[in-house]
Amino acid sequence: MPHIITVTNQKGGVAKTTTCATLAHGLALAGKRVLIVDLDPQGQVATVLGVESEPCIYNLLVGIGVRADSLVRHARENLDIIPGDAHTSSAQTLMNAESRPVGAIQRAISPLLPKYDYIIIDTSPSLGGLQERAAWAATHVLIPVATDFLAVESLGKTMMFLNGLADRYKWDGLLVGILPTLYDTVTKESATCLEALRADKKHTLAPIRRATVMRECAAVARTIWEYDPGCGVAQDYRGLVDAIRRL
Ligand SMILES: Nc1ncnc2c1ncn2[C@@H]1O[C@H](COP(=O)(O)OP(=O)(O)OP(=O)(O)O)[C@@H](O)[C@H]1O
Ligand SMILES: [Mg+2]
Repeated sequence: MPHIITVTNQKGGVAKTTTCATLAHGLALAGKRVLIVDLDPQGQVATVLGVESEPCIYNLLVGIGVRADSLVRHARENLDIIPGDAHTSSAQTLMNAESRPVGAIQRAISPLLPKYDYIIIDTSPSLGGLQERAAWAATHVLIPVATDFLAVESLGKTMMFLNGLADRYKWDGLLVGILPTLYDTVTKESATCLEALRADKKHTLAPIRRATVMRECAAVARTIWEYDPGCGVAQDYRGLVDAIRRL
């Protein structure tokens, strides 16, 4: 049974997609078999890894008789992806309208479980039916939080969402941790936010620094492991990969 790690936060732009792609490729480079499932209609995991976004997860979500493995694309050695695209939001509407059970995504990906050591699920910046089903499928949830005041302030909503999932639907996954992202080593705001997170949440992981190189590598569809594996932010992400390998 693989670890299924859903990366979620209803706040936008906190490095969810970047973390999914970087973590997944880091694990793949360590010899683990990894699948990314992109449940965000923005479909940006395919973009940052430089793979086609068709065929996309929509077909699997609406259950029109496709086999899960027919949607899997090879992205790198040991790393596969089921891409998302704009159709994913139609799938969410349909799943909600038909009141599909909270376990619908877990059931949809279940034929793929034996093939992988880790399944990493990217989600969109909102808290809808798809996020609920994506979190419910997870054995572990990882919450990237930008180290700025508003992002830290909104973290409570994501925590309440997870608590609600456990209370209402008996979700028995674990919080891997809060991942402080876009950590600015120069300004005081990041340090203050990190302190606040550490004081409030015992699961706060080591921060990932803000570095222009992360934008550069996204622009050329390379991961940081390919673009500049010796840089500081790669070192930060190596810490995350190691933490996940210890789960
Ligand atoms: N460590 C970093 N340093 C600098 N820029 C970064 C870093 N990590 C991510 N970024 C950039 O920040 C932006 C937002 O990142 P990303 O798309 O991963 O966030 P997201 O949480 O997935 O956003 P959304 O909520 O829209 O899905 C992107 O332009 C990305 O390249
Ligand atoms: Mg994203």
